[in-house]
Amino acid sequence: MSNDEMKKRAAAAALDYVEDDTIIGIGTGSTVNYFIDALARIKHRIEGAVSSSEATTQRLKACKIPVLDLNAAGPLPLYVDGADEVNCHLHMIKGGGGALTREKIVAAASDLFVCIADCSKQVDVLGTFPLPVEVIPMARSYVGRELLKRGGQPVLRENFSTDNGHLILDVYNLAIVDPPKLETELNNIAGVVTVGLFALRPADVLLLGTADEVRVLK
Ligand code: 5RP
Repeated sequence: MSNDEMKKRAAAAALDYVEDDTIIGIGTGSTVNYFIDALARIKHRIEGAVSSSEATTQRLKACKIPVLDLNAAGPLPLYVDGADEVNCHLHMIKGGGGALTREKIVAAASDLFVCIADCSKQVDVLGTFPLPVEVIPMARSYVGRELLKRGGQPVLRENFSTDNGHLILDVYNLAIVDPPKLETELNNIAGVVTVGLFALRPADVLLLGTADEVRVLK
């Protein structure tokens, strides 16, 4: 079975967490796109969605799912999103698609975070996937030097600007043994907007698509 089929499986399983007449927080990426396609089939049951990126907004609109502003929606019962890596504590690296800041905001405003992923995303130690760090453009070099001091190898994501008009540094060579500690530390570097570590607010449920089943981890 291909990774895409496993993503689709995990995405379909997330429909079980959708409650009637609620507003759903929606992440970004190819796995989430499968979730949006599945959600479109039951869109009459929900009030709408809060989006984590311009790309997701476009896809929701194409599926005729109402897109609501987070400020108007208030606390959300459910957030569904993918991950680039996830460990056994459901700490994640996210931001491969560059939507980490809005993803973190919508996740923070949600009661339940359901992560959907194919089994290739499960790791023992986070950090093989380069850690995305969103930075204010004028702080790019300073933040880069601070990341080097911590053993990382920051690489500017070429020809890329986030939905918020910022840059992304992808940080290689970090073996992230204590994700909450590193998230806190990197968050405190001046000029960092968001670190793509989601450990202080991890997922609550992981739906992992495998060739045989969807494994549920909590
Ligand atoms: C986007 C993300 C995505 O969740 C992550 O990159 C996983 O993407 P995909 O579902 O395409 O594998 O964090 O910013």
